Amino acid sequence: MEQFQTVFVTGGAGYIGSHTIIELLNANYEVIVIDNFVNSVDEPNGESSALKRVETITGKKVTFYKCDLLDRTTLFEIFEKHDIDCVIHFAAIKAVGESMEYPLLYYKNNLVGMLNLLEVMEKHKCFQLVFSSSCTIYGEPKYLPITEDHTIGGNITNVYGKTKYFIEEMLADISHSNKDWNIICLRYFNPVGAHPSGLIGEDPTKAFTNIMPYIAQVAIGHVPLLTIFGDYETADKTGVRDYIHVMDLATGHVAALRKLYKEHQHLKAYNLGTGKGVSVLQLVKTFEKVTGSAVPYRFAGKREGDITAMYADADLAEQELGWKAKHTLDEMCIDFWRWKTMNPCGYRPHKTKLTNGH
Ligand code: WQD
Repeated sequence: MEQFQTVFVTGGAGYIGSHTIIELLNANYEVIVIDNFVNSVDEPNGESSALKRVETITGKKVTFYKCDLLDRTTLFEIFEKHDIDCVIHFAAIKAVGESMEYPLLYYKNNLVGMLNLLEVMEKHKCFQLVFSSSCTIYGEPKYLPITEDHTIGGNITNVYGKTKYFIEEMLADISHSNKDWNIICLRYFNPVGAHPSGLIGEDPTKAFTNIMPYIAQVAIGHVPLLTIFGDYETADKTGVRDYIHVMDLATGHVAALRKLYKEHQHLKAYNLGTGKGVSVLQLVKTFEKVTGSAVPYRFAGKREGDITAMYADADLAEQELGWKAKHTLDEMCIDFWRWKTMNPCGYRPHKTKLTNGH
């Protein structure tokens, strides 16, 4: 199949980026990666722990540069050095709670980083872009399952989500002003799981708040109890989300690149979800069932900024990208657990236990 040759991946040493690169290499793309290690792990020699394992899994090489998108000069030099056909942009900081504490840090990192990337791409006449967006930009949904034409930007409850929304607005404006832009925004729901080898997975170096790493920390014994936020207007009073296997997200990015190659998009957004709503209690019970590990928990009140329920109408991606999530909730739990038990301290074998109570 005819396709782009060289893909530039920002934030490729992170959780979703590293898993996506496996599928890019399997699809025979040449992959150039940058990462600043703000939320991923580097080896003493400055290489990326995750990407070294990606090379082991695929038997293929990636070209890696430690580079921060705020360092426009280095970014420009990389584009001068390589003939880049298209870009997948993951690099961003994404801890919801942290984004409320440090809004300036989030606006500068996520928005200025994106602006630098777009300017350098434009200067090199590279107009093919897949942007890592988020269902967070929908705010509290007016209906479910949620479709791509739902309003965005209304009552987004955190700064992280606002940076994703502002970037989608920027992309709408530039694609309107310059018809050469060929952009797909992928709106993720809740990514969980890990590559079935157990060699790579979610290893947050920053304070994390999302549920699956917490469940694993309790199941492995690092944290005594899971706190389940609750009393939401759902069947079992716990929050409902659309959990999607990270390997399904990865194939979704390859499908998006193929779409950009086949037909000029200007700007198009797609939900990447399973279309199924799962409550926290259902997730915990599934995790315990498939892993045989107990996850003791206690209930707490609602969490500030939480929405009650969010799950995707994923039909558009199936119709137009030929993509559909395949992995089950059982597989998401089994694969995450394999990663956690094979790497109890993530990529750093001797990393001390996670701080901030995890
Ligand atoms: C899920 C459910 C909590 C922790 C995330 C990312 C965001 C975006 C969407 C990509 C909720 C409950 C959680 C805990 C709990 N992804 N929970 N106890 O809030 O949906 O947002 O996915 O862009 O970046 O943050 O995910 O995992 O924090 O919460 O009960 O200790 O788990 O109330 O119902 P969320 P989450």
